[in-house]
Amino acid sequence: MSWVSIDKEKCDSCGLCVGRCVRCFSVKEGEISVEANETNCNLCGHCVALCPTMAITQHKMNMDGFVEYPETVQFDTSQFIQFVRERRSHRNFKKKEIPLNDLETLVDLCRYVPTGSNVQTFEILFVRDPERIKKLSDMNVDFFKEMIDDVEQRAAKLVANGKKIPEDLEYALETVVSRRNLVIARDAGMDPIFHKAPAVMIFHSPKLTSTPKDNCVIAAQTVVLAARTMGLETCYIGLFEAAANSYQPLIEELALPSGHSVYSVLILGYPRLKYLRAVDRKPMKVRWE
Ligand SMILES: Cc1cc2nc3c(=O)[nH]c(=O)nc-3n(C[C@H](O)[C@H](O)[C@H](O)COP(=O)(O)O)c2cc1C
Repeated sequence: MSWVSIDKEKCDSCGLCVGRCVRCFSVKEGEISVEANETNCNLCGHCVALCPTMAITQHKMNMDGFVEYPETVQFDTSQFIQFVRERRSHRNFKKKEIPLNDLETLVDLCRYVPTGSNVQTFEILFVRDPERIKKLSDMNVDFFKEMIDDVEQRAAKLVANGKKIPEDLEYALETVVSRRNLVIARDAGMDPIFHKAPAVMIFHSPKLTSTPKDNCVIAAQTVVLAARTMGLETCYIGLFEAAANSYQPLIEELALPSGHSVYSVLILGYPRLKYLRAVDRKPMKVRWE
């Protein structure tokens, strides 16, 4: 049976569905027909959302999810630009718990971001327990500690044998300096990874899916902006991503579904600091064609 059906009583043959999706819809002698299945339909729901007479049913989706808003939201462009420019990475948070309801709203919002081929395969690991956040942070620092030792030992061995240090190792040696600071900070009682944030969002996805990194980052950035409407601020934590995908103890600790990788990580909370002015940035390089 086709995943999509047309109620002939309601259909006025406007053809919007055919124009939008020739993969599933076709017209023969003025009559529109549909055959949607796993080979041609990716559940985008455009056909249902476009139909002026509500003649189309998508049987694989919850039809109650097709909400009809009375008006399209219009943002003032300059206000939106200000909203984007006022977003800054925050690493100092109030010791204030975020209502679960707000976190659930952010999670639910992620359902509506676009994904490559509409796969909707990314998932979220939401960590809120301070002990657990500290454990993951400490493991992240342990990873860097081991990495520093490894990089330095490899370089020392090459030098001792009179060999040239390859470019990638040279680069690793440069980054080791900043990583060492993380170890020093952790040993001094700080949290140089998650900055004692009350919540950590780890976006992960099967590696073998359409555009896994993009899907997770788009969701994360949507959360970054939406969180601001709740008085929350965020910071991406790329440091954790690197460790979460390569440090075996951390891989085991996270216990993500098999075949998954971490593609984006956010901390969030109520900010302690208020930036009084927006920042300058390098000019945008663009080639207009
Ligand atoms: C993909 C990505 C990864 C990042 N990883 C970290 C991180 O691990 N730790 C951290 O403190 N900041 C991290 N940041 C924050 C950047 O340092 C920050 O975005 C940049 O300095 C610009 O400052 P702003 O976000 O306040 O505008 C990351 C940002 C991005 C976009």
